[in-house]
Order: sequence, then structure tokens, then C-alpha cells
Amino acid sequence: MKLAWFGVEEWLNPMDSLAKYNLGSSCVSAFNMRELFECTGQDLDKFLEDMREFSLHYHHGDATGSPRVKKAVTGIYPKAGLTPEDVMMVIGGTGANDLTIFSILEHGDNCVVIKPSYQQHYDIPKGMGIETRIVQLKAEDNYVLNLDDVEAACDENTKLIILTNPNNPIGITLYDEELKRLVDIAKKYDSWILCDEMYRGLDENYMPSILDYGYKKAVSVCSLSKMFSMAGTRIGWIICRDREMYEVIKTRRSYNTICCGIFDELVGSIALENYEKVWARARSILLPNREIVKEWISRQPHLKMLAEPMGTTCLIDYDYDVDSETMAKEAMEADKILFVPGDYFDMPKTIRVGYGAFRNPEDLKASLDALEKFLKRYE
Ligand SMILES: Cc1ncc(COP(=O)(O)O)c(C=O)c1O
Repeated sequence: MKLAWFGVEEWLNPMDSLAKYNLGSSCVSAFNMRELFECTGQDLDKFLEDMREFSLHYHHGDATGSPRVKKAVTGIYPKAGLTPEDVMMVIGGTGANDLTIFSILEHGDNCVVIKPSYQQHYDIPKGMGIETRIVQLKAEDNYVLNLDDVEAACDENTKLIILTNPNNPIGITLYDEELKRLVDIAKKYDSWILCDEMYRGLDENYMPSILDYGYKKAVSVCSLSKMFSMAGTRIGWIICRDREMYEVIKTRRSYNTICCGIFDELVGSIALENYEKVWARARSILLPNREIVKEWISRQPHLKMLAEPMGTTCLIDYDYDVDSETMAKEAMEADKILFVPGDYFDMPKTIRVGYGAFRNPEDLKASLDALEKFLKRYE
């Protein structure tokens, strides 16, 4: 099988440490260990002391994740009635998507993918030779998902519907009513749903999960990379309540993962057990920063935000006569300003700006000012 070049990752990973103004990231400003323990009210000295005798044997009893971390994961889905047996720890959201898509889809199936989205969601199925039907979020719908389009794209061979909620890159989000309808569509065609919920948690009020509607074929994936501010732990998870499919995914996982890092699961457990505090910190960074971006956009005659973002990024439309990949490369080369070209989401003439990585709002303002100056060259 031949996989397409992975635009966002191949662009951002080498540039991340070179950028002076980093509007590229979709993460929330990373914790250091001291901050994590302060935020969650845990005793760092005791933790470090306990580390002295911490066994470096591989998994401590359960290869699919430590009992502690699996239980902690169930806590972030209080309306789904999960048990730890439904949880499988994996390497990142990338590992979660990869394992789930490869496990569910087989030759002869088709899948329906809501775009724009993270590239794994459409280019893994395409690479597998699966018929991949795209439902595009459209300007005329204000980028709100048209569920009639989803229904029209499905048929009896539709094995899987894939989406990111809240959306990456636009940030637009489906709530109760739309999620229920999506589940009804999946039920009608006996299809699985893969809902990537990496950006869930920005709202003060409860944000629903695809798991909340009792549908066994709804699979949710997430990781510690975004709202948990711990991308370096590489901890992700899959929630699958269907025992048979859980086993299929587990078999594939045995070929490429065996188990996650024991340190990563341990540190991750602390964040997950205290997710409300961790998400509150994320919100305290994201919400003011989003206002800064919105205010800045309102002063840019050539730019328009596509929709109100509910994650860590927004997609910005521009009217300059330059493609977004060229623009992004020139911005890095000229001024070390990093953002993701919309071309890498198949959204030409747009750029994705991430506002979560700025702990200090002044740094975000400085980055936007730098971008404003840079863009003048296209006027
Ligand atoms: C929607 C989505 N899913 C998955 C990932 C991968 O995340 P991780 O760092 O956990 O592998 C990303 C990263 O940007 C993402 O945006």
C-alpha cells in the first residue's frame, strides 16, 4: 500500500523548533512536570521518591494499559457508562486512528469521511484501496455539517463514518442533536463511527462524546496531546465497547505496539484523574487567546475566519494571489513565522492558525503582528 505524504506532520515537525512565531501548533502550551503537579494538586517530591523503586518491566499486568490509566480514561466520559475493559491505550491519537481504521475497514467496504479533517482519516483508507467518500463542510452551510449529505453518501457497504469533533482545522463542533442524528444514520447502515475527539473539552459546560448515545459501533479516540498539554507522553486511547472489534484492534496492536510506555501511562494517569483541573487550565489559555485572534482578524481586510472555533485552531481565508503552501514556506523563510497551509487540508487559499501554544498572550499578539507585517508583501 502507498500512503500519501502527510502534509501537516511533515511540515510542522521539522519547523517547530525553528519557528520564532509559532502559530503552527494545535496543542495547548505544554506542561512541565512542576506545573502538572501544581495544577493537579499532587506531591511531586513524593512521586519522584517513589520513582526510585519503580519497576522498568514492560506493562505492569495488562498490556492494553495499566488498570490505573484505563480507569482514569473512563472518567472523562461520565455519560457513557464505560468500564476499563472498553479502553485500550495506544501511542498517540495517530496510533489510535491508524489502528482503528486498519482494523475496521476491509476490501469491498466504503467509508464516509467528513472533511476537512486530520489527514489520517481519508488518506489511510485511500492508501488501503478503500472507496473513500468525502462529505465536505461547505461555505454555503457556514461550515456546519450537513447531515443530509452524510446520509446521502452512505449505502449498505458503508462500514465506517469518520470525523473529528471538534473539527480540526476549522474548530466547528457537533453537539447533542447532531451527534444523535449521526448515530441514527450509522445505525441505519449498520456502520461504525470513528469520532476523533482530540479537541473535546473547551466548553465550560459538558461537551458530549459520540459514546454518549449507547451505540456499540461508535468508537472514540483521543490522546493527551491537545487539551491535556502533554503531547510528549505520546499517550492516546481507543474506546471500543464491542468486544469482538476490541479483540481485532488488540491483535493488530500486538504487531506494532505491545504496550505503551510505563512512565507515560503513570504521568498520564495523574492528568486524567484530574482532567477537570487540566481542562480548566487549557481553557484559561485558549479562551482569551481565541479573543485575541478574533480581534486581530477583525482588523485584517484580506482575512476572514471561517467559523467560530471550539478547539485550538482556526482556519483563515485570504484573498491574496498566492497559494497557501508557498505562503507558508515564504513566511518561515523570511520571518520564521510558522502556520499550516490550508493546502495540507485540501482547503486552498486558507491558513490554519493555532492559538493554544501561547502561555503568554503577548507572545501571541507579537506573532500575529509579525504575520500582519509579513502579509503586506502580497498586497
Ligand atoms: C484530529 C487529530 N487527531 C490526531 C492527532 C494526532 O495526535 P497525537 O499527537 O496524539 O498523535 C492530531 C494532531 O494534530 C489531530 O489534530
